[in-house]
Amino acid sequence: MRRPFVAGNWKMFKTVAEARLLITELLPGLTTIHGVDIVLCPPFTSILPVAALLEGTTIGVGAQNMHWETSGAYTGEIAPPMLAEFCKYVILGHSERRAYFGETDASVNRKIQAAFDHGLVPIMCVGETLAENEAGITREVVTRQMREGLDGIEPHSIGSLVIAYEPVWAIGTGRAATADGANTVIADIIRAVLAQMYGDELAEMVRILYGGSVKANNAGEFFRYADIDGALVGGASLKASEFIPIVKAAVS
Ligand code: PGA
Repeated sequence: MRRPFVAGNWKMFKTVAEARLLITELLPGLTTIHGVDIVLCPPFTSILPVAALLEGTTIGVGAQNMHWETSGAYTGEIAPPMLAEFCKYVILGHSERRAYFGETDASVNRKIQAAFDHGLVPIMCVGETLAENEAGITREVVTRQMREGLDGIEPHSIGSLVIAYEPVWAIGTGRAATADGANTVIADIIRAVLAQMYGDELAEMVRILYGGSVKANNAGEFFRYADIDGALVGGASLKASEFIPIVKAAVS
């Protein structure tokens, strides 16, 4: 049995003061929920204060991106060892980074390798755009993202990997995928590619999340499906009244 996993992607929201406030609103509810891995991914400037506030709880901290090099003259970038001081997780290959910041399967691949090298757990995002979906090439696109993103990654790392299937047309639009459709992509494409690359046993260990307009009122539908192991939540992770019920739904 895979342990459920729910991560909040705060994107470019929350100053440090606002982040502290949100944590105080989240903690009473989140600390009473057991049997699920909970991860919060604030912007870089709030990672340190959020990590301090979460100390002593089982709630994990993640970053939203990083560079693959250990250090160097890369103005504006953050290196894996800098994150590893405070974070256990890092979101890599989010569609907003692919669409607006030139992230490619090749750069995602270097970052996944770097994350494992530095003891970070990557949350690797894959998913097709609306045009790709309408063209009927979801399988090709997601298969390519998986194969190129994981190229050369050793089997011993794969069990801890987390993957988020996020159809781009469902992110921030309020138009979630159907739970049945998401489960089909996750089972028939994502887990199937993992099985081809690493064998059935490892493929069965990997947690695969759905992401894209997950809210308190639809999360339970997704979590009922056997291959959906949790959610990567954007907008709804910024409100305690939304995020706490989503996490609860993962264990009920
Ligand atoms: P959303 O974002 O929940 O606001 O659609 C999800 C994500 O981008 O991870």
